[in-house]
Amino acid sequence: MVFYFSGTGNSLAIAKRIAQRRGEQLVDIAKSLRDKHYSFITAKREPIAIVCPIYYWGLPTVVISFLERVQLPGRGNPFIYAVFTCGGSIGITDRQLTQVLDNRGYELGAAYSIKMPDNFILSFNLLTPESEVPKLLEQAYARLEHILDAVEVRRSVEHLIHRGRFPRMASTFAYPIYKCGRSTEPFFTNSSCNGCGQCERNCPIGAIKLFDGLPTWITTHCVLCLACLHRCPQKALQYGEKTSSRGRYVHPELK
Ligand SMILES: Cc1cc2nc3c(=O)[nH]c(=O)nc-3n(C[C@H](O)[C@H](O)[C@H](O)COP(=O)(O)O)c2cc1C
Ligand code: SF4
Ligand code: SF4
Repeated sequence: MVFYFSGTGNSLAIAKRIAQRRGEQLVDIAKSLRDKHYSFITAKREPIAIVCPIYYWGLPTVVISFLERVQLPGRGNPFIYAVFTCGGSIGITDRQLTQVLDNRGYELGAAYSIKMPDNFILSFNLLTPESEVPKLLEQAYARLEHILDAVEVRRSVEHLIHRGRFPRMASTFAYPIYKCGRSTEPFFTNSSCNGCGQCERNCPIGAIKLFDGLPTWITTHCVLCLACLHRCPQKALQYGEKTSSRGRYVHPELK
């Protein structure tokens, strides 16, 4: 079984490939939370994958909320593994996930990471030029093959995880900024907004509603997945003053 969360499609593309290759069910974490669907049945000895992006060297809040509620098949100790997609490195997110699972009586068996196009445009511009995206994605899928080999034998492999420099420091100092931040206040739309409603449909937590054809944020905080920002066809959606001059990224399979 493959549980995934994705804002701009990288993690979805990886999760889909894992599910297809292994002939397993794909489960959208955000949808399960919205539907309050927390109970799942897996085949005997079927491994459980958790696939998600890295946010501020830690876990997306929505993934934690889901794992705090989900009932995983406990009998026979299923092999639980994580595949993180990131723009550069994961810090010690695997340890954070170990803790979250441990609180529920589950064990993280292995964690892997895959570098994909970085979609964090709140502090700097896109890191991967559009022309280099296909090559980076090709490398990502090649790495996934090695990860799937490791999953087959239920093994952690040190070189299949990018921790980056000073991983503990990165996660310890950056993650609280995310956890205590995530305000929806800086979101606004400019005059190019045509009221198409894509942002409302694409928000994984239903934080956006259209009123009189204009997107309005109905929650004070959100996951900060940036799906609304990157997937607006008019590039009308901004977060603070800096994003209007920055690029947008959507995985090709979501376009
Ligand atoms: C709010 C936010 C914070 C991020 N923080 C990190 C980070 O700490 N390290 C990193 O390597 N990538 C970071 N990224 C980049 C994403 O992890 C990466 O682009 C990921 O593949 C996006 O997955 P998705 O397309 O499934 O949403 C961040 C992205 C966002 C939106
Ligand atoms: S997706 Fe963009 S254009 Fe469409 S309603 Fe939202 S902000 Fe407006
Ligand atoms: S409001 Fe935008 S950034 Fe926040 S969760 Fe929804 S889609 Fe993601």
